Amino acid sequence: MKKAQTIFEQGSHRWIAISRDPERAGHVIDTNEYLIVHDGDAILTDPGGTEIFPAVFAAISATFDTSRISRVFASHQDPDVISSLALWLHFNPQIKCHLSWLWQTFIPHFGGAEDTFCPIPDEGRMLHVGGAELAAVPAHYLHSSGNFHLYDPEARLLFSGDVGAALLPATSGLFVTDFDSHIRHAEGFHRRWMGSNEAKLAWCEHVSALQIELLCPQHGAIYRGKDVARFIQWFAELEVGKLRSAA
Ligand SMILES: [Fe+2]
Ligand SMILES: [Fe+2]
Repeated sequence: MKKAQTIFEQGSHRWIAISRDPERAGHVIDTNEYLIVHDGDAILTDPGGTEIFPAVFAAISATFDTSRISRVFASHQDPDVISSLALWLHFNPQIKCHLSWLWQTFIPHFGGAEDTFCPIPDEGRMLHVGGAELAAVPAHYLHSSGNFHLYDPEARLLFSGDVGAALLPATSGLFVTDFDSHIRHAEGFHRRWMGSNEAKLAWCEHVSALQIELLCPQHGAIYRGKDVARFIQWFAELEVGKLRSAA
């Protein structure tokens, strides 16, 4: 089963990471889901795939009343991000899904009625959880053409979707402890899955201006403190989206 761990808490404001299922089938990529709670309201990002829905649901249930999850946020369209949508809607048909406007006619193939979807314009927008505000930060072409991250100024936390992802052994901890050895597990992923150096540099410039204590990717481990700036610098310098000769 996955485990739910509180990674930020101040008053009624909380981020809970759902991660690391030791019983996960090896052919399914490992994912992190995050539940943001404020004043009893909650939004879940990225909810994950159909295959892992029972593990995510059980892990959240152990710490939070799942019937209070009123919305999900999909950073992009991938199956590991949002293919569980129909199962969440089966549990609660009132759940709304925030997503890029670009995917608003594609993601309904995973389920949902017309009024399920709340499209986000390219420039982003603020989302409310209870009395708190989160910013949907544009991250287009990293790696999806319609892609958003979530910034929480109160928690100084950036949910960064596939940016920052690392393919780690199942026994790895939730936080990066040795940046140099960790980043070796991230390099191949970023070179292949990030398609645009121009978009990458724009993102690095934008997020460098934000105060970020925790950078939380959808796969792998969370960057804390100084490792956040180290990651942004590393990513800025990495050449991505290049076809490589087989020779
Ligand atoms: Fe993805
Ligand atoms: Fe992913």
